[in-house]
Amino acid sequence: MNNQDIINEIRRKVDIVDIIGERIPLISRGKNYFCVCPFHEDTNPSMSVSREKQIYTCFSCHATGNVFTFLENYEHLSFREVLKMLADKVGIELKGYQSYQKKQEPYQEWYQIYDLASKYYQNNLQSVLGKEARSYLKNRGIDDAVIKEFEIGLSLDKKNALTELLTKKKYSVTLLNTLGLSTNDVDIYHNRIMFPLYDLSGKCVGFSGRIYENTGDNKYLNTKETPIFKKGTMLYHYHIAKEEARIKKQVIIMEGFMDVIRASTIGYRNTIALMGTALTKEHINAIKRLSHEVLLCLDGDVPGKKATLTCGEMLEEAGLLVKVISLKDDDDPDTFILKYGKERFDGLVQNAIYFRDYRIDVLKEGVNFRSDEEKVNYIHSVLQETVKVKDPIRVEVLLKNLAKTCEIGYNTLEKRFQELKEEKQEEQNKIPFIGKEAPKKKRDKYQKAQDAILAAMIEANWVIDEVERAHIVFQDVDSRMLQSEIAYYYEKYGSVSFADLYTYLQDKKNLFIRLSHLAELQNSYEQIEKTELYDYFSVMKEYNKSQDIKRLERKMSEEKDPKIQAQIGLEIVKLRRGEM
Ligand code: UTP
Ligand code: MN
Repeated sequence: MNNQDIINEIRRKVDIVDIIGERIPLISRGKNYFCVCPFHEDTNPSMSVSREKQIYTCFSCHATGNVFTFLENYEHLSFREVLKMLADKVGIELKGYQSYQKKQEPYQEWYQIYDLASKYYQNNLQSVLGKEARSYLKNRGIDDAVIKEFEIGLSLDKKNALTELLTKKKYSVTLLNTLGLSTNDVDIYHNRIMFPLYDLSGKCVGFSGRIYENTGDNKYLNTKETPIFKKGTMLYHYHIAKEEARIKKQVIIMEGFMDVIRASTIGYRNTIALMGTALTKEHINAIKRLSHEVLLCLDGDVPGKKATLTCGEMLEEAGLLVKVISLKDDDDPDTFILKYGKERFDGLVQNAIYFRDYRIDVLKEGVNFRSDEEKVNYIHSVLQETVKVKDPIRVEVLLKNLAKTCEIGYNTLEKRFQELKEEKQEEQNKIPFIGKEAPKKKRDKYQKAQDAILAAMIEANWVIDEVERAHIVFQDVDSRMLQSEIAYYYEKYGSVSFADLYTYLQDKKNLFIRLSHLAELQNSYEQIEKTELYDYFSVMKEYNKSQDIKRLERKMSEEKDPKIQAQIGLEIVKLRRGEM
């Protein structure tokens, strides 16, 4: 059995209605089930679940997919983890399943080399040569257990110790250069405390080396970026935080890996570090898989405060619940915990404030409340923030506080707040749904026919052959690609459905979106009659013909040679008469 067979078998043995029903209350209505959509804030049952199609669709936020995508998003699991979970549930062995990520195999040797280097560095630290580094770590309150847990090591004050070791093992110098461990015959790292850096799955893909004597060099030296080590995608400690964040239902984001290491000594392992880079989209996607709630605990200095504002905004925009711990100016989580201990840090975590409240606090800084102008500006900006808060109780608390701080009537604020809210609503109605297709434009006859044919291919598989036999040509690339993917899947596996395609096309974003759009169509094409299908075919052919004619007319107007012009003209006439 190949991967797709295994996926299909697992999917066919589970029922999406049961899987969703175990997690969210479902109401049965007609052929479908309905529930409150867990993927956006809502109280109405806007998500429908179809037993027949084995898919779910939210008519409000447009979330849609099959049992796999549901569990990936709801449980914050990777596809593989969901597959494993369902395989266990229905008693299927995953032995024959090969990871999709064949791409990574060429790097097998790279991982081995970083592993060897890491073991070598760890040994150094424990050797006599590591005495001073060990005492530096001890002074910083990092004991042997922590050294072991984080696989901390030491590079030696020798020209080419690591390079020699690895070339003796027959690894080429060129490769060691590529990996950022040597330049020519010389080691990159000298006399630094070495912290292995891991990718999201926990494989060592580089190092950060810290000076421990006053040498005046850069504090940290990181391995250069490679195809398997990209700062914009990696988050320190992610693979460990993953388990913990799921249990604690919260992930804590810090700036440096020393902060993460320190937090682990007082029992916080649901932590990740950005390592001094800006938060990227890839980071956010990875964070989303950990938990719905994130706690920003960055450094207390000005850059840390700035980063809290930008990261908080980005994370909230991505739909996460963001809270903030703000430290005093010269503290980071590491120094805070060292100075004040676990209980005080526990207190910070428990009293973390909502990101919006934090923003409002920041706005308040430096406002002169005796100046009417400053006060009015402040009120307006706080109202703008409050509009972004969804919970009505919190809104009321915020408005009451504002009324008190500025000595202004609550009702006045409330009124302005409602106006702003309505304005925002109107604006939002204009914005196309992020990541999805544009707002529902009125589809013309041709688009309707095209959608109907594609949906019918999926819901009534006999249509697939009909489409091929009739030589139906779809005009846009996505539809054409989708048509050929459907036909390919059908040929290979004997049947095809929406639920199959959601998994099969999960890495092809455009096609996935096109598919979601089709799944949302109100019509069902399971029972489509041939006559109806042929009507759609004629609409398509008519349209394609008109497109061909337009193209020829354009060509004719651009053509200078009257002879060729005449030829084109003839072609157009023939097309119009239906002779071509
Ligand atoms: P910090 O300067 O806040 O590090 O940089 P830290 O955690 O407090 O380290 P200690 O306590 O001085 O040992 C945060 C992160 O930025 C990156 C590192 O990844 C670090 O964890 N950084 C910092 C560098 O890459 N290079 C540097 O020179 C400094
Ligand atoms: Mn620090």
